[in-house]
Amino acid sequence: MTANDLPQGMTQNTISLLLGHPDPATLLTPEMRNAMQRVISSPQAYTALQYGPEQGTQSLINFLVEKINREQGLSVQPANLMLVAGATHAIDMLTRLYARPGEVVLVEAPTYVDAIHIFRDHQVELYAIPTDEDGLIPSELEKQLALLHSSGKFPRILYTIPNFHNPTGCTLPEERRSEIIGLAGHYGFLIVEDDVYRDLSFEGAAPASFYALAHGDQVLSIGSFSKTLAPGLRLGWLLGSADAIQRCADCGTTQMGGGANPFAAQIVAEYCRSGYWEAHISHLRSLYKMRRNVALSALSQYMPGDVRWTHPTGGFFIWLSLPETVFAQDVKRMALQEGVLLAAGEGFFVHPSDGQHNLRLAYSCATPGDIETGIRMLAQVIQRARMVEE
Ligand SMILES: Cc1ncc(COP(=O)(O)O)c(C=O)c1O
Repeated sequence: MTANDLPQGMTQNTISLLLGHPDPATLLTPEMRNAMQRVISSPQAYTALQYGPEQGTQSLINFLVEKINREQGLSVQPANLMLVAGATHAIDMLTRLYARPGEVVLVEAPTYVDAIHIFRDHQVELYAIPTDEDGLIPSELEKQLALLHSSGKFPRILYTIPNFHNPTGCTLPEERRSEIIGLAGHYGFLIVEDDVYRDLSFEGAAPASFYALAHGDQVLSIGSFSKTLAPGLRLGWLLGSADAIQRCADCGTTQMGGGANPFAAQIVAEYCRSGYWEAHISHLRSLYKMRRNVALSALSQYMPGDVRWTHPTGGFFIWLSLPETVFAQDVKRMALQEGVLLAAGEGFFVHPSDGQHNLRLAYSCATPGDIETGIRMLAQVIQRARMVEE
């Protein structure tokens, strides 16, 4: 592999705590290779290489419906689910279909950086709702909704990442989810639940989804194979009312291009039907849990006493809050000089200055040794950055 072939955002000879990518060693398992081979040597390969049905490859839809019903105690029908080309595609499509330019979309502060990018592409007006260590604060949401309504603005979408949040790692408690559903009913907005980390829970099942708590009303819930199988498949799913799914299947891009990635979907269906995915997910849970543990113990061993961090119970990320005298951009620049890559907080906020004292650490694709060394070096950098400021 040459330097130019490295995955997006990666460079050689550095410790990267930068990106929320899966560990590369987990991507091409023998089981995945087998599924690929079985598909390309079967007559299905010809169908899979054609334009696919708008809602997506039926065998994979059926598999997902059965999994979701079993795990979440629901009675979802195939008409409630469509395949998408990753969560990214779903967020883009839903924004296009449910919010016009100039209309209001609500997001968490902080939120997923590339979702902000998509919303800005669609020229919607973004309002950020404060969060705490339990995620989105319903009373703050209510305050913002009342203010917006009094000025004649009617938010169309609330975009939220309830489980193992990117970038904070936090998980929204069930009571808050119910309160937010109440507000969606009262103020008439759609909840777009980005649930791509749901399966990567380290401590039992994740809380009930917005979709489950709202009985499928006013919620569109997004899942993905990116974090638990491989992002290069570009495959995920969207769960919603039959009408909403129909609307997405009828939209221009779906009609023109057909359903999402039929070839990848056929391979994933073959892989999942053979029962491999469950075992793979449980392997990933222990792998990432171990890395989370290494990161948390390095943080408590090395970090100065006035640095705070979250304690994720799943997913890929830990969120650091630096003292007021230490700026994330300085830390990021100085850490890079030492060969440690991480994300400064600004990009995760609608108002970037809100993140000038935050850092995001991703432990998902660094080795335990690199996580430990990276955090030790980062702690030294933070001490030095403080001295530069003082
Ligand atoms: C919260 C969140 N949503 C969506 C994505 C992207 O998902 P996909 O690869 O399925 O488009 C990511 C990836 O980092 C993410 O963290």
